[in-house]
Amino acid sequence: MSRNPGGRILVVEDPAGLARAAAEEFARGAAEAVAASGSFSVALAGGSTPRGLYALLARDDAPYRAKVPWERARVFFGDERPVPPDHPDSNYRMARETLLTRVPVPETGVYRMRGEAPDAGTAAGEYESLLRSAFRLARDQPPPFDLVVLGMGRDGHTASIFPGSDVVHETSRLVAAPWVQTLGTRRITLTPVALNGARLAIFLVSGAEKAGTLRAVLQGEHRPDLLPAQAIRPAGGEPLWIVDRPAAALLGA
Ligand code: 6PG
Repeated sequence: MSRNPGGRILVVEDPAGLARAAAEEFARGAAEAVAASGSFSVALAGGSTPRGLYALLARDDAPYRAKVPWERARVFFGDERPVPPDHPDSNYRMARETLLTRVPVPETGVYRMRGEAPDAGTAAGEYESLLRSAFRLARDQPPPFDLVVLGMGRDGHTASIFPGSDVVHETSRLVAAPWVQTLGTRRITLTPVALNGARLAIFLVSGAEKAGTLRAVLQGEHRPDLLPAQAIRPAGGEPLWIVDRPAAALLGA
């Protein structure tokens, strides 16, 4: 594992290796959290890369499912698209199909962002209230997630914090509903304030098409406006980047 300004980097061979390494970290973090506090809180990423992690965590013929105290888990989401929970684009639907229906997380332990809400801003406010209540947060206290799973887009976005978004500079709100110009839609997203309260953030990055962006994020100038993934610097310590060899191809030694 190598160190960079942007965090610790673990390079694995391929997407299957990425899922295994991520599942190891997920299971370790969950067991440690439950041993320390009796519960485990995780914010899940959407998109396609984490699918492999979620599916592997759910497999009863793999060593990870049994290591996670699912009954003690509380599952949140890093972001959501403005669609109903059964829509093909829904991050909740993806997590539900690949993981949440296959492990014994209590239904009451899954905290969904209401992507179907007619107004994304209202849904963001609701989710903020939900976080404040679920963690009994003091006014300026961020949610102390034990783990945040994140992806990174080719443009350097993470969660639904996109280049040029004001959300990069948010200093108080935990959840926002920014307009995403490149998508022509609003999204609901945790802000850096919420994401940086985490004990550990793990980025999962796969594919040669992200190699240039990954180098810029990890080894280039600190420009979170342009590369929002750089805004993620959790209180608990630098992020762990689990990346496959094609994505790591341009990283200096
Ligand atoms: C989303 C995700 C988003 C994702 C990146 C990378 O809602 O799409 O939360 O931030 O992590 O776009 O997506 P891939 O893993 O599909 O490349």
